[in-house]
Amino acid sequence: MKIIAHRGASGYAPGNTLSAFALALKMGSKAFELDVHRSRDGRLVVCHDYELGRPAGAPLRIALSDYAALKKINVGDKFGFPSERVPLLEEALDLIAPSAEWINIEIKNDGDAYPGIEGDLLAAIRVRPGLIKKVLFSSFDYGTVKRLRALESGAALGYLQRGLRTLSLLPAIARAKAVGAVNFHFSLRSASRINVALARKAGLKVCVYTVNSKPDALRLAGLGADGIFSDYPDLLSRGGGR
Ligand code: G3P
Ligand code: CA
Repeated sequence: MKIIAHRGASGYAPGNTLSAFALALKMGSKAFELDVHRSRDGRLVVCHDYELGRPAGAPLRIALSDYAALKKINVGDKFGFPSERVPLLEEALDLIAPSAEWINIEIKNDGDAYPGIEGDLLAAIRVRPGLIKKVLFSSFDYGTVKRLRALESGAALGYLQRGLRTLSLLPAIARAKAVGAVNFHFSLRSASRINVALARKAGLKVCVYTVNSKPDALRLAGLGADGIFSDYPDLLSRGGGR
């Protein structure tokens, strides 16, 4: 089972920053997850939220801000990091791509907040020889996943779900298959034995977010999960039972 460094080693450093990715690399991570947005001037940036209120207390909306303004903000305050900024996707890829075996790029695009971001992202990946083979694209926004498929028949896609009940799982699996997804990503709460088994039976690889306790990780390994997204990439190797 893959342990995917969720936003880098985001339990130890501010998530989605170069420090978090560097720390995950130092811990030996080979699988990474990161979240992508787009600034007003068209730069792809790595950040979880649509604005910098939570990571930095700055009410800057990414879609409405130029990258020059975003990069002035320290997003590391809560971890006591004095000068951590929102990285460009290209900076994050420069750092992790040479060592990574698998990178899940999650596109934050609810309500098509960033029209055309799918093409921008594919262009950013295609300029790096061989990288597309390591990347799995996912989004909570099904339209985004469909547009990625239309633009790139060879893209590995993940169907990302939150709070899914067993009743709505079969239609969700059908949607995942319809778009040619290879992965199905469950929230921890919805990763029940039956749900994981149904997705696997449909031929989908199952990854679960966010798994920060060893007992949860071991339970999911027992269910045959292919990967877990963890803020603590050393979760299984460290002592104790976090
Ligand atoms: O991609 C898995 C997981 O990261 C999705 O949730 O809110 O942590 O981006 P979130
Ligand atoms: Ca994410």
